[in-house]
Amino acid sequence: MVLRVDAKIVIVGCGISGVAAAHRLVNAGFQHVRILEATARSGGRIKTGRLGDNIIEIGANWIHGPSEGNPVFRLARQYGLLDPEALTPENQTIDVGGHLPWVPSILTSSGQKLNTEDIYPAVEMFNELLNEGANFHSQGGEPWASVGDFIRSEVQKRAAEKWKDVDAATKSLRQCVISNMLKMECCFNGSHSMDEVGLGAFGLYESLPGLDCTFPGGYEGLIKNLLSELPSGLVTYSRPIRCVNWNNTEKRGNPVMIECDAGEKISADHVIVTVPLGYLKKHHSALFHPPLPLHKLHSIQRLGFGTNNKIFVEFDSPWWDAACEIIYLLWEDEDVMLDQVPDVQRPWIRKLFGFTVVKPTERYGHILCGWIAGHESEYMETLSEQEVTHSVTQLIRRFTGNPTITPRRILRSQWFHDPWTCGSYSYCGKGCSFQDLENMMEPLPTKGSQAQPLQVLFAGEATHPCYYSTVHGALLTGWREADRLISHYSSISPSEPPKSKL
Ligand SMILES: Cc1cc2nc3c(=O)[nH]c(=O)nc-3n(C[C@H](O)[C@H](O)[C@H](O)COP(=O)(O)OP(=O)(O)OC[C@H]3O[C@@H](n4cnc5c(N)ncnc54)[C@H](O)[C@@H]3O)c2cc1C
Ligand SMILES: *[C@@H]1O[C@H](CO)[C@@H](O)[C@H](O)[C@H]1NC(C)=O
Ligand SMILES: *[C@@H]1O[C@H](CO)[C@@H](O)[C@H](O)[C@H]1NC(C)=O
Ligand SMILES: *[C@@H]1O[C@H](CO)[C@@H](O)[C@H](O)[C@H]1NC(C)=O
Repeated sequence: MVLRVDAKIVIVGCGISGVAAAHRLVNAGFQHVRILEATARSGGRIKTGRLGDNIIEIGANWIHGPSEGNPVFRLARQYGLLDPEALTPENQTIDVGGHLPWVPSILTSSGQKLNTEDIYPAVEMFNELLNEGANFHSQGGEPWASVGDFIRSEVQKRAAEKWKDVDAATKSLRQCVISNMLKMECCFNGSHSMDEVGLGAFGLYESLPGLDCTFPGGYEGLIKNLLSELPSGLVTYSRPIRCVNWNNTEKRGNPVMIECDAGEKISADHVIVTVPLGYLKKHHSALFHPPLPLHKLHSIQRLGFGTNNKIFVEFDSPWWDAACEIIYLLWEDEDVMLDQVPDVQRPWIRKLFGFTVVKPTERYGHILCGWIAGHESEYMETLSEQEVTHSVTQLIRRFTGNPTITPRRILRSQWFHDPWTCGSYSYCGKGCSFQDLENMMEPLPTKGSQAQPLQVLFAGEATHPCYYSTVHGALLTGWREADRLISHYSSISPSEPPKSKL
């Protein structure tokens, strides 16, 4: 069924959730849909860049869980954006539970190279604890303050038993491995520390089967293809929204009035807000008039939104093994199992857990991608490219024991200082529950109000109940809010609505 609906719909933000919402509304017959985007580009946290001749992903990199149940996978396949290998049934059924089976290389701060067997007992214990941690949500109580607290105390307890016959040096090294894994987990969760990630909601996140794959031509191809199917001029760029005035009862006309930074005023029947949670945390009081209901505001505050950045480093020739897919950097003095650097300014680079090798080499050349989360990452953003290059070079020379290794060039992301994102992606902070994600997606006015329904709708990564922090999660929320409006207009009889023709 195709509706012809004259309702005016404004979508704030041209990331994947905004584009997906517009796509679905236009296809359903909505005539007056527009996207207002603060920046001069579309894609938001999907951002493909260049390092020399090579394509690199400054934002999202993988399709997490590329299989039939993943709408990003289905669209990418439909648009022909994936390598044939990614389409094999084998790769679609591999279930890695969110963790990739990468071939590791382990280097230490004294320039030693370790074997996988040396770190395996610690990695095994860490993964075991992560799995156990994910089960707390179904049991109610939270006996530990956070995921970090849980892992640290349990490692201490279990090590005393399981590793009691191990010599002190080996035990200490294994605890250094735990620190490294905690730092890596901070990157996955986009949190400053695992001490800030709630144990009660840790298991809410769900992963899909499939071996994570990338877009050989860049993730932005997905956005470009979707936009090409929409009327030209649907997106207005460089148009930041300052305020969403809703619940307007004075005029007979539109219940929502959107104020742009330039002073322009746009009226609408519905607005779909897709701004990142980081932006909402910082600007909610200016962005909504009347203000958001308290339960929604509290959920915005409780949910976490931290920083995860990448530092791409290009070399003339590789200094790592051809098979290597990930390089872990183990500090041998970190057996306290902490994932935070006490003085963020000086040794900020200790927070960088390691590098992934950007593959295939034939396509990308010799590029490593360093990963760094948290306040140390936010501090890194304030340094000059020269300062970051210097620190990275010293780090690599120390861990390889090779004083001549010199990068050709680097490029790092700066998501915390991006004024329209204010971080990377969301996680469930301490005290978070499923209810917070429900509150995030609840439209305004809330149920029971006499005012016109569905004035302000909420989409975006942080509003998905189990795929938050991902591209497919964001896309699904855009479709969800579009469907909410479509079913609303489908249920109104043709004689009833003042402004919509069916
Ligand atoms: C470093 C990094 C790596 C990632 N890696 C992956 C990955 O490998 N796989 C994966 O699935 N996900 C990954 N993600 C997460 C993924 O990128 C996001 O979940 C997803 O892109 C979010 O889409 P969105 O539409 O919710 O928000 P966004 O893409 O952030 O879109 C929101 C838009 O709103 C605009 N905006 C903000 N304020 C205003 C305003 N006042 N007025 C108008 N417009 C405004 C912004 O400019 C932006 O364009 C990664 C993210 C980062 C940062
Ligand atoms: C799975 O995908 C990877 C990367 O795309 C590819 O190298 C590999 O050959 C694929 N596996 C199979 C069994 O096709
Ligand atoms: C943190 O990331 C892991 C994947 O590495 C995931 O299993 C877990 O659910 C995430 N937790 C939160 C709160 O996002
Ligand atoms: C919205 O307007 C209605 C009257 O139409 C009023 O009862 C309600 O309190 C208003 N809500 C807010 C949040 O201002």
